[in-house]
Amino acid sequence: MIKRRQFLQASAAAAAVVACPSIVRGRNLNSKLSVAGIGCDGKGWSDIKQMSDHPQTQMAAFCDIDLARTEKVKKLAPDAPVFQDYREMLAKLGDKIDAVTVSTPDHMHAFITLDAMRQGKHVYCQKPLTHNVWEARQVANQTKKSGVITRLGNQIHSHSVYRTGVQVIQSGTIGKVKEVRSWCAATGHGKSGQISVPKNPPALPKSVDWDLWIGVAPMRTYGGHNVYHPWGWRDWQDFGNGALGDFGCHILDPVFTALKIAAPPTQLKADHSGMNDQVWAAQTQVDYVFPGTELTTDETIKISWDDGGLLPSVSGSHIPATVALPKSGSIFIGEKGTMVMPHVGPPQLFPQDQYAADAIETVESVNHYHGWVDGCLSGEQPSDGFDYGALLTESVLLGNIAVRYRTQNLQWDAAAMRFTNNDDANKWLRRDYRTGWNIDEV
Ligand SMILES: NC(=O)c1ccc[n+]([C@@H]2O[C@H](COP(=O)([O-])OP(=O)(O)OC[C@H]3O[C@@H](n4cnc5c(N)ncnc54)[C@H](O)[C@@H]3O)[C@@H](O)[C@H]2O)c1
Repeated sequence: MIKRRQFLQASAAAAAVVACPSIVRGRNLNSKLSVAGIGCDGKGWSDIKQMSDHPQTQMAAFCDIDLARTEKVKKLAPDAPVFQDYREMLAKLGDKIDAVTVSTPDHMHAFITLDAMRQGKHVYCQKPLTHNVWEARQVANQTKKSGVITRLGNQIHSHSVYRTGVQVIQSGTIGKVKEVRSWCAATGHGKSGQISVPKNPPALPKSVDWDLWIGVAPMRTYGGHNVYHPWGWRDWQDFGNGALGDFGCHILDPVFTALKIAAPPTQLKADHSGMNDQVWAAQTQVDYVFPGTELTTDETIKISWDDGGLLPSVSGSHIPATVALPKSGSIFIGEKGTMVMPHVGPPQLFPQDQYAADAIETVESVNHYHGWVDGCLSGEQPSDGFDYGALLTESVLLGNIAVRYRTQNLQWDAAAMRFTNNDDANKWLRRDYRTGWNIDEV
């Protein structure tokens, strides 16, 4: 595996609309959806801005553990109250809030999302849906119980280029698919695998409630701007899931949707460029085997993942070795041809001379954010709800467990939710929750 992609050498260089019980309380299509935003800057800003741009929403409240990061959203609805603790927000304004966006760091997605769904709120949650596999199962279970309208925050799902790629595969343009190779340029800050806990961090800004930021994770001292909060958390194992966690739910989304992948992998094997027990590696590589579908040639399908600047091989595909691959994307190797699905760009078909210029029929974009709002108002669950989001997230996060057992082939029994040939690996399926921040089994 290492040899195939010259793994360590590269590391040195880088050091369907489904009917759903509607719980929209006494609402009709002309009324407004009352939305509260949890996590107000970074991606939260664009999530909230998009939701507030829908003509039938009103922003009911904002919540951010860092009050300095609420300045932009306050301009969208100057009268909406601002909270630091979402629990206080839901306790005080619960009857006025129909729906929430959850755009916090990953380690808090499940805790907040489960709580909001238990209170009957529709939820739009950022990707990955959760921080560990057990949490993904709990969110999937609660989604069924609550019957609320949900959507994963992987907005490219609704973008023309991904929708077009899905259409190309499902129309049989390259035949049934034999294998997929996905990859991602990102490597967090480019320092993953090397950074360690800061020794002399600066004082905590007065605007930040650090206890609330830490939430379910083990307590540690604030590390300084961008070390953990904001943004830097994604490299740290306690809070994020590295480049695979950050981009897996985007780049693997058209793969899962196009191939109608409906079950987690049955086996997987991974490697990485070196990491400590705090941060994720700068480069990871995962080889998954998934159950095949009506769109795959075989009963199983191999899907591989490379990140941190590693590129997949084009051997066995219809792509000439001279063609430059995009920085991130997926190669779908079919019986008749190969599709490159750039992240984010229009799909390309190979061999080029076999496909006419109009071989690809463009599918228009739809508004991902507004699709969720429309769903909340109509009671119709849009595609990419938490059932799908949980499957995608589980598959991605299993990859990061395999990363901890480099080059070992792990067998995953999805029904039993356990690895059958490495009991030690099962300890990573769920975390120990900080006192006061437990998540109950659903
Ligand atoms: N869909 C996309 O394209 C995309 C892009 C970037 C990030 N994301 C996702 O969005 C989420 C946030 O990422 P980011 O880069 O914006 O992180 P960030 O750290 O820059 O911003 C997170 C925001 O949430 C606030 N916050 C943290 N904990 C909170 C809590 N418990 N309650 C309320 N507010 C809280 C922070 O103060 C900050 O304003 C992550 O899940 C990430 O994976 C998605």
